[in-house]
Amino acid sequence: MDIARVEVYLDNQDKPYAVLEQAPFTLELDPTGMEEGTHYLIAVTHYRDGSVDHHEYVFEVARRGPVYAGHIARAPIMAPIEVRMVDSVELEAPTKPDLLRYAVFPVLLFLLFAGVTTWLAFYGENALPGGALAAGGQVASTNPPGTPTPLSGNGEAIYQQLCASCHQPDGRGQPPTFPALAQNPKLADAEYVIKTVLNGKPGTAMPPFGRRLDDAGVAAVVNHIRNAWGNRFGTVTPEEVAQLR
Ligand code: HEC
Repeated sequence: MDIARVEVYLDNQDKPYAVLEQAPFTLELDPTGMEEGTHYLIAVTHYRDGSVDHHEYVFEVARRGPVYAGHIARAPIMAPIEVRMVDSVELEAPTKPDLLRYAVFPVLLFLLFAGVTTWLAFYGENALPGGALAAGGQVASTNPPGTPTPLSGNGEAIYQQLCASCHQPDGRGQPPTFPALAQNPKLADAEYVIKTVLNGKPGTAMPPFGRRLDDAGVAAVVNHIRNAWGNRFGTVTPEEVAQLR
């Protein structure tokens, strides 16, 4: 399918970080000035036939001396764009001060089995009715194009939109890859659950939602999972979430 343009959004910013209009669709992501920690970017691909799909990358930024470096922690397969992290560490190289201001190195995008499973769970479920892959291997998304603004409100709706692809609509998960939330005794610990939703579980497929959900949204989804499917673990308030951010 012909791509008209790819808008790339960083974290929950409203304005695109970049708009790619010409092949090859390669994004050079410069971590300089970004906060340390986990970030994500969403590539919103607009096809010429009017369809749109989303692919989410997760990347980590860390300080190395005065400069920042980053690496892609999770890249979706079949995404139409390649993302490279700009490595600004070369700035420090004392022997070659006149070297390029930034050295660019290609990031190898590892497609582990877990990555594939995650991707299928993520996009397979979110695809059009039937979960079928659209022609050309691209996945049609029912989500409207646009930016990830923090969600608030209805916990069940948030769960179905953001969590059910991995933990399943009925909370049973897909053990051992995606843990069940139904009848999971670990959910008794409200602080653990809030922190897991805010920060994700680095090194696993559990993504952070701190930037996509506001305090009320986190409280709502936490209250949903702790009280659905026979769970009876009580409720938390947006204020408690705010204290754990
Ligand atoms: C891309 C898949 C994915 C999505 C989407 C996802 N999770 Fe998870 N989640 C995981 C994985 C994998 C783990 C297990 C991490 C580990 O190994 O500790 C996990 C763990 C958890 C845990 C801890 C369970 C335990 O037994 O320790 C909670 C709570 C949780 N997720 C809630 C949520 C909520 C709420 C959402 C939506 C806002 C969500 N998850 C979305 C993959 C996902």
